[in-house]
Amino acid sequence: MKILVIGSGGREHAIVWKLAQSPKAEKIYCAPGNGGISELAECVDINVMDKESMVSFAKEKEIDLVMVAPDDPLVAGMVDAMEDAGIRAFGPRANAAIIEGSKAFSKELMKKYNIPTAKYEVFTDSASAVEYVKKGTFPTVIKADGLALGKGVIIAQNLEEAEDAIREMIDGGKFGASGSRVVIEEFLTGPEVSVLAFTDGKVVKPMVSAQDHKRAYDNDEGLNTGGMGTFSPSRLYDDAKAKECMENIFLPTIKAMNAEGRTFKGVLYFGLMMTKDGVKVIEYNCRFGDPETQVVLPRLKTDMVDIMEAVIDERLADIDIEWSDNAAVCVVEASGGYPVSYKKGFEITGLDALKGEKDITVFHAGTKLDNGKLLTNGGRVLGITAVAENLDAAIKRAYEGVSKVTFDNEFHRNDIGIKKYD
Ligand code: AMP
Ligand code: GLY
Repeated sequence: MKILVIGSGGREHAIVWKLAQSPKAEKIYCAPGNGGISELAECVDINVMDKESMVSFAKEKEIDLVMVAPDDPLVAGMVDAMEDAGIRAFGPRANAAIIEGSKAFSKELMKKYNIPTAKYEVFTDSASAVEYVKKGTFPTVIKADGLALGKGVIIAQNLEEAEDAIREMIDGGKFGASGSRVVIEEFLTGPEVSVLAFTDGKVVKPMVSAQDHKRAYDNDEGLNTGGMGTFSPSRLYDDAKAKECMENIFLPTIKAMNAEGRTFKGVLYFGLMMTKDGVKVIEYNCRFGDPETQVVLPRLKTDMVDIMEAVIDERLADIDIEWSDNAAVCVVEASGGYPVSYKKGFEITGLDALKGEKDITVFHAGTKLDNGKLLTNGGRVLGITAVAENLDAAIKRAYEGVSKVTFDNEFHRNDIGIKKYD
């Protein structure tokens, strides 16, 4: 089978790595891919948003299965374009990807179908939005409606910050069309857990849980990033929580999307907050999370090609998905200045020292090969991932890995997976 994976980050490296283990995968292409992915797949330089070129490439190479990993092409209808051209593709169609593409849509869905989430209102004019926050309490949460690279959420501590955020988004065009509509919601507190799930629109099969670390520095200080590290499983997500989520959140969401005529097929990511009033949905993503995928897929025992085909053919109920009873930790090595501004092109050294270590895998997020040298090519550069019998052992091994690999201006968090909640 010939497979095309669309995307270029650490998540896509983990997906390609997992697919490459399948005896069914004869050849894998990745568009556009990165330096690490090129060791496992043939990288092709096609923009992830270029539906036309992607479809012609898939036709030309007679691709049997396309995996669309990032949010933007999914929301823009990449799966629709492939299917319309008769190519099998994994991921939601645009009418279902809207669950991530519009926060106003997802909030409305949750309200209509009684799925627990923060209270909210939607605004398209800044004066009414400001009037609304004046009557509320602080902190309050202001979100751009559309995709904003994870940066469209502002936690405003006071009226001034809220007004600034509202005016920047609605009047200042800070996130373009994504911010012309804003969701203002109640501030919730509690630890966050990510649960990704496979669904074919009929059944939903959650993967093992994970936790992300969004802030740049230790102790959750610094700016929000795309994610500085993850671990799986979450210590907080026990069987009781899993049952609560299945009953109150996962199944109701799948049913709600069907009822709306927007059947969701692919990976649905539930961003959950464990509040004192129960588990609530913070966000939905229409895809695998990054960097959650880097700790979830190493624990998957089942052939992922089989799962993807079962989802596409709507027979997910018929297959058993097996997970290892172990733990995984991924520590991101980033380039100094990330997430604001950073340089690219530093040489990466030390990877050879990890080549023989079976329990450590390095997923590349932003690298490129240049005349045989591996160079940094992004803010998040590498995700050093270790698998071990439990979280403490995996944390120790991941940091042993981190200590061997470096580049100029490198920084990472030293506390991935360490925080325990009482
Ligand atoms: P989102 O893009 O919706 O996942 O939001 C990004 C991050 O903002 C989340 O992971 C939370 O840490 C935080 N956040 C979003 N919504 C809320 C909320 N209602 N209350 C508290 N924190 C929130
Ligand atoms: N880890 C958060 C995301 O993938 O959006």
